[in-house]
Amino acid sequence: MQQAGSRDIKSAISPTLAINELVHSMRDKGRKIFHMGFGEAPFPVPPRMMDALRDNARERSYLPVAGLPQLCKAVAEHQAFHADVDMERFDVLIGPGSKIILFALQMAIPGDTLLPVPSWVSYSPQSKLLGQHVVPVPMGLSGGGLVLEAAAIDQAVEQARAAGHNPTKLLINFPSNPTGLTIDDATLLSIVEVCRSRNLILISDEIYGRLSFDHRYRSAARHFPEGCVVTTGLSKHLSLGGWRLGISLIPKSLPGLFEDLCHIASETWSCVAAPVQIAAVEAYLNHPDIEAFITSTTDIHAYINRRIAEQLSRLGVNCVSPQGGFYTWPDFSNVLDGVYTSSEQMAASLLEQHGVATLPGVVFGEDSATLKLRLSGCDYDGETALDIWASSGGPGTRADLLERMAPNITAALTELGSFIFDCNPATDAESTHRPEEISDR
Ligand SMILES: Cc1ncc(COP(=O)(O)O)c(C=O)c1O
Repeated sequence: MQQAGSRDIKSAISPTLAINELVHSMRDKGRKIFHMGFGEAPFPVPPRMMDALRDNARERSYLPVAGLPQLCKAVAEHQAFHADVDMERFDVLIGPGSKIILFALQMAIPGDTLLPVPSWVSYSPQSKLLGQHVVPVPMGLSGGGLVLEAAAIDQAVEQARAAGHNPTKLLINFPSNPTGLTIDDATLLSIVEVCRSRNLILISDEIYGRLSFDHRYRSAARHFPEGCVVTTGLSKHLSLGGWRLGISLIPKSLPGLFEDLCHIASETWSCVAAPVQIAAVEAYLNHPDIEAFITSTTDIHAYINRRIAEQLSRLGVNCVSPQGGFYTWPDFSNVLDGVYTSSEQMAASLLEQHGVATLPGVVFGEDSATLKLRLSGCDYDGETALDIWASSGGPGTRADLLERMAPNITAALTELGSFIFDCNPATDAESTHRPEEISDR
């Protein structure tokens, strides 16, 4: 029974999971919905990992709280190899997804959290659940894209301290959900400089790190081994969100942090499922088949999400081409200003009238009046897309590649064109939205 004053379940759950449930219930009722609301990579489980999971199904015992030692070792070697991190300076802790590790980290580091705007939907609710204050750090614009500037962090710290808050940590994420943009090395170094001078712990959410479209995994830990905590896991680059395996690297020079996290882990999740941890070792041994899978699937994400950005730009929407992950972050103000007064209203109409599910910018901390949406480019069958990609030899070969790999994405782009045209028939959006006009370059 619901208590007086408590929220109903729909308004209480995280927006990403809520939109996913809504889409499934609309589809169950027979509606055709194009799902750009939820970031779930669609590729099949790599056969080697499926075999390892099956072979270890009989493992039924609890494992050490920090994680299976072979997995921690493989993760350490992998981070050293792919991200050039000096792993002598870090401990590894495994958890049931990086989301709960991020929550545990915020719990273990008292004080308030500096959060860039926009940021992933769950950081701020997690801080609030812990009774911590969130200090927003507005992003600046550079070359058309959003950039986290050292001066903005510095200013936010100054103002927060003057207002009686106690910012102790900065949480960054790159490539970013929602923007799809990464942080270059020079910017990372300037962010690290502020963290050092302001005595901030840097929490670097690198869950999309291996999905960088240039195939370079940049880790902030490389530049800040004494004060940067990294979180990552299997969910994104291996499409294994449901396996619930997350990873964290904890600097040895932050006294007591690793122990505090182990304490939280031991009193809450105890350990990640034994068969999953054993199978996860395979993900970190640089097997050629797993590495080839990561390369191809990253290329497919790059191809599809860049095409989404290109097509939106053609429709007159301001959309920067993404650099990693599987999201785009279009701003519809150019074409829909005056038609909608909030991103929620715009997202609701798009879903209701055109069957395209998205998330409004406001849930990422953006001002509600800014007409931004986060689009996830994952609504396609990963196995089919991989087969077509392998046989086509990549982009530029077939004009209908996007349509064949991801028909729901081309249909969603068509609907987006109609949405703009219906709202604003004076534009020539209708003439530019048809899928046959989406050509490969
Ligand atoms: C930016 C970001 N961080 C963390 C997570 C959590 O991933 P997981 O708990 O599956 O490791 C997600 C998942 O959507 C995400 O987008």
